Amino acid sequence: MTLDHRADDAAALAPNAAAQAAAGTPFQDDATAVADTDRNPEAISMMPVAFTVNGTDCDLDLDSRTTLLEALRDHLFLTGTKKGCDHGQCGACTVLVDGRRINSCLSLAAVHDGDAITTIEGLGTPDALHPMQQAFVDHDGYQCGYCTSGQIMSGVALMKEPCGASDADVKEAMSGNICRCGAYTNIVAAIQHVRKA
Ligand code: FES
Ligand code: FES
Repeated sequence: MTLDHRADDAAALAPNAAAQAAAGTPFQDDATAVADTDRNPEAISMMPVAFTVNGTDCDLDLDSRTTLLEALRDHLFLTGTKKGCDHGQCGACTVLVDGRRINSCLSLAAVHDGDAITTIEGLGTPDALHPMQQAFVDHDGYQCGYCTSGQIMSGVALMKEPCGASDADVKEAMSGNICRCGAYTNIVAAIQHVRKA
């Protein structure tokens, strides 16, 4: 669009704008109403959500737009689950819902009313690690550790999924979990250790 065209468009719109101003300007009022709604915290849609997290009943009152990841980290302070990309691309936010792995950044908390959520905090304790946690320690399955909780949660879920026996099969099944440190070889070794045990 050239500047001349813009000038023509503005000229074409001007009569409408003038007419709207004279007539009480519904267009102008609508725009203002939207802006006011955006600024009004009472306009946020809150809703009750109840689920169990690591076996504990949790009753929350959440903005309906809250993701499961945000509910876990920001409302329940379970920060072991990490936000990497927030777009379903890295797997750092992986948790179990009724035993199945999901990317919690892609799922609204309200959808999980009544579900059983398991996070890394629910697997083991420092004195009694889950076998998958222990295997990651024993096989050096991490470097910076940022992806590790997601890797472990995926590894735990993988135990109950159809998956071939080879390392390549495990790599394929774990392809949704990215490790920027490149600890893949040791991650696969840890998972294979648990599978064979
Ligand atoms: S933070 Fe959820 S997939 Fe990356
Ligand atoms: S251990 Fe650093 S991103 Fe995986």
